[in-house]
Amino acid sequence: MKLNDKTLYAPEYNIETLINIETNTAALVLGVCQDSSLVTCHFGAKLDNPRSYISSGIIAKGEELPKAISAFGGSEHNAIFRVTHVDKTLATELIYLSHLTAEIDENRTETVIELRDKIHNISVALHFLACKAEDIFECWTVITNKLAKNNVNNLAKNNEADSITLHNYASFELALSNLTADYYLTSFFGLWEREASMQEEKLCFGKKTLENNYGTWSSFGFNPAFILSTEGKSHEDFGEVISGAYAWTGSWKMDFNYNFNKLAHDREQRQLLTISASNQVIAADYQLALGESLTTPKFILNYSSQGTGQISRNFHRWCRQYSLRDGDTPRPIVLNSWEGAYFDFNETVLVNMMDGLAKMGGELFVLDDGWFGVNEFARDSIYSGLGDWQVNNTKLPNGLGFLIEQAKQRGLGFGLWFEPEMVSPHSQLFKQHPDWVIQQTDRDNILYRQQLVLDLSNPAVQAHVYQSVATVLAQYPDIAYIKWDCNRSFTNFGSQHLTKDKQSHLWYDYVQGLYSVYQRIEQNFPKVILQVCASGGGRIDFGALKHHHEFWASDNTDALQRVFIQWGLSHLYPAIACANHVSICPNHQTGRSLPLKFRFDVAMSGRLGLELNLSDLPEKSLQFVQGAVKSYKSIRHIVATGDLYRLLSPYKSDYAILSYLAAKEGVLILFAYKLKHLLGQLMPMVKLKGIDAAKTYLVKEINLHEQQQPHCRQNGMLMTGSDLLTRGVRLTLTEEYDSAVITFTEQNQLTKN
Ligand code: DGJ
Repeated sequence: MKLNDKTLYAPEYNIETLINIETNTAALVLGVCQDSSLVTCHFGAKLDNPRSYISSGIIAKGEELPKAISAFGGSEHNAIFRVTHVDKTLATELIYLSHLTAEIDENRTETVIELRDKIHNISVALHFLACKAEDIFECWTVITNKLAKNNVNNLAKNNEADSITLHNYASFELALSNLTADYYLTSFFGLWEREASMQEEKLCFGKKTLENNYGTWSSFGFNPAFILSTEGKSHEDFGEVISGAYAWTGSWKMDFNYNFNKLAHDREQRQLLTISASNQVIAADYQLALGESLTTPKFILNYSSQGTGQISRNFHRWCRQYSLRDGDTPRPIVLNSWEGAYFDFNETVLVNMMDGLAKMGGELFVLDDGWFGVNEFARDSIYSGLGDWQVNNTKLPNGLGFLIEQAKQRGLGFGLWFEPEMVSPHSQLFKQHPDWVIQQTDRDNILYRQQLVLDLSNPAVQAHVYQSVATVLAQYPDIAYIKWDCNRSFTNFGSQHLTKDKQSHLWYDYVQGLYSVYQRIEQNFPKVILQVCASGGGRIDFGALKHHHEFWASDNTDALQRVFIQWGLSHLYPAIACANHVSICPNHQTGRSLPLKFRFDVAMSGRLGLELNLSDLPEKSLQFVQGAVKSYKSIRHIVATGDLYRLLSPYKSDYAILSYLAAKEGVLILFAYKLKHLLGQLMPMVKLKGIDAAKTYLVKEINLHEQQQPHCRQNGMLMTGSDLLTRGVRLTLTEEYDSAVITFTEQNQLTKN
């Protein structure tokens, strides 16, 4: 044993090197100490002189700096990094080796900091990709069981001649030391048909964990994201807010460990909040053989000094630019067949639906579940057919080609539903490959929605899943859209492909397998629009969005509940990606009846679509529907790419009001929904945000019924930006579920046109 005079209670160190990773307004400042440890000096607003905040020598009370990544075995107990080395020892002490910052393009830099254990040759490379304009840091870690050739400072004692086992391997750890006692955490909880509900709580001492152990789903239970206010309860427009989201379409956890900094041992307050995000969940140890690496998913860190509104705009801009396919191309208006027909259709039913869609002015018809499975395996219910992706010729005797042609003749695109990761026990595929499902063979299978999950850790299964979709796309090049569904989670965890000692790799390898399938689809069919769906909104995360164009927000199409679901999701994900469908009344999920205009106005604040059969709507509705679709087309590009400003929260009032501003085009679109009507109720003035005070705007309400009076007193008037910002507009929403869509167009834009 080596003895030295180090003490935990009066730490002494000098920061020799500062690593300052900056965006336009935010900075993550890490420091390399004399003893080569890496510490977090600051995360927050960009500083002119970060050094002025850091003591050196014997550290002043309350100013100890936490490790940038806490490894188990040194002075850290709650470590986010824990490994069993080849010699079965448990301790790791990570020290700094080097760092490098490279410019990727005008907006982005990537900093890589390489750490290694003092004794063993294991490398931990921290990656930070800073996106300046969006104030976003993409953070991930690469862990390598290294060859001993770079035997830096002669520290390497031995080669890791065998495997090491990673127990904890977080993507990122953020240590906020002694910043405030008033942290407020917002999380997004929910399940099937009630996704992304919001809750805000004060963090008390102790550990708070948000997590998801479903395996295939990332966003049931909790959406993998949080918003943390450091200045009391969060506010839409002011206050410092830190937010994080996990780009991973599988299981994950985020820990908020709020405690005393354990280095502290006197009467000064030494609070430390560490936030970590990991894809490592229960039973997910990972072995690395010599020379092997594991790359963690990306954690997306977001900073705003101006409240949660700016956090959302940062996420949206970043996502459209870097983490969404074709992020600036408005999406077609889709009619999806599910709620209009379920499994009960034939060619006539589908062609009638297409007729309806064409009449309404829609653009793309999507045939949902039920089109495949041959003979006894026909997919006429949830009991059979998954895995057999051949058209059901009994139901559709003229095949997909006929349907695609019918759509074309009506000026519509054609899309198709798949659930390619799954198999029904009652299918040809299962008969041929029972070994392809996730299960422990000596235990009973657990069916969920009468189906099983295919084991995507197996390359043969990956190839098959890719082929099942690719074969259909290659045969029918006019298919323009795929809805990729996923309706169950892992149970009976076991892979018949992974070796016995690597069963716990399943969680990670499954998702990597899924991503590799998506990549092949993207490469070979780049024009096909991909929607991610998982029993509604079970896979809404930035990892999935990177491979898709949009997500199905929820199987709940009740517009009142959708106001809340879309409100929650709007904090994180851009409107262009949020598929909202108008369905019939009474609503199939809640039994509620809501006005058609309300249903359209709610759906129009994202990617508008339809989930109905026109013949199920009262005949007199057609004219309104046609007008609504036309109105949407006139504002779709603003909704798709404008900046979101939320004006009144449904969690805090009887209304929900939001707007999208396209500053360059000089247009703002406002959506207002009345959720509850009470006599004597306040009818709010709505002050706009983000517009130019010096400009003049024409106020125009759109999407009104014939003869309907406008809801906005200023309708048709020219108003100054200053008045709209300071006094606003008066909305007279006089009934429950009244709603309004109002455009504000800069006067100079009007004269231009
Ligand atoms: C679940 C999806 O969320 C629905 O939209 C629909 O596609 C069904 N699956 C079909 O089985």
